Amino acid sequence: MGKNLVFMPECHSTNTHALQLCQQKQSVEGTVVITNNQTAGRGQRGNTWEAEPGTNLTFSLILKPTFLLASEQFMLNRAVSLGIADFLRSQLPKAVKIKWPNDMLVQEKKICGVLIENVIQGSGLSAAVVGIGLNINQHRFSNARATSLHLQTGILYDLSTMLDELLHCLEVYWLMLREGRHETLNELYLEQLYAKEETRLFKAGTEVFEGAITGVDAVGRLVINTAFGERVFGMKEVEFVY
Ligand code: BTN
Repeated sequence: MGKNLVFMPECHSTNTHALQLCQQKQSVEGTVVITNNQTAGRGQRGNTWEAEPGTNLTFSLILKPTFLLASEQFMLNRAVSLGIADFLRSQLPKAVKIKWPNDMLVQEKKICGVLIENVIQGSGLSAAVVGIGLNINQHRFSNARATSLHLQTGILYDLSTMLDELLHCLEVYWLMLREGRHETLNELYLEQLYAKEETRLFKAGTEVFEGAITGVDAVGRLVINTAFGERVFGMKEVEFVY
C-alpha cells in the first residue's frame, strides 16, 4: 500500500480522483491518492468533509477486493476501521472507539472519517476507493465534537510518517480480509463498537426512540434492541441523538 503515490497539492476530492483512475482502468492496487488541500471533500450521507490545508491526512486508497461478494462489502468497512483504530491506539493512550459504520472516536470526539466507495461488477467488487480524513495537526475546529491527534497529545506530527504507519496498520487487516478471516474481523469490530449495549436515544426519520446497539449484521446494518424488539437500520436510516 502506498508504493504508488499520486500527490496533488490541491484537489476537489481524492475519492473522486481515485474513482476516475479506477474507471479509466489506470489504477494499480494499493495506489494512494493524496492532497494537501482538498477543496470539496465528500463525507458520508452526502455531507462535506472540511480539513485545514496542510495539517491533516486526506487521502484515498485504491483496493481490488475481487474476492468479496457485493453482499459482503461491509467486511471492507470492518477491516479498514480496525486498521485505523490500531493506528490511533499506537499513538494515543486513550480509548479509541469505532462509531458505526466507520467513524473513529477518541473520548467521544471524532478524529477520523471514512468514505468507502465500491465499484460493483455483477455480484462482486472490482475495486474500492477507501477515502480517509484523519485529523492530525489541526488545532481548531468549528465543530465541538471534532478532535485531532495534536489536540489529544500536544505533539506536532510529521504527516508522511503518520501516513506510512497508518498504511502499515491498514495492510495488516487487509491481509486478514484477503485470507477470509471474517469471523475474527467481526469479533474485533464488535469489541470496539461505540455505545454497544448502552441505552441511547436514536432518530430514524422523524421518530426518536430509545434502544441499545447489540451488533452489526452481515450486510452492515446496525442492530438495535428496543422495548418493541430488535430493529435493523441501514447506513442512512438512523443516527444518534445527543
Ligand atoms: C465522513 O465522516 O463523513 C467521511 C469523511 C471522509 C473524508 C475523506 S478525506 C479523503 C477522501 N476524499 C473525500 O472526498 N472524502 C474522503
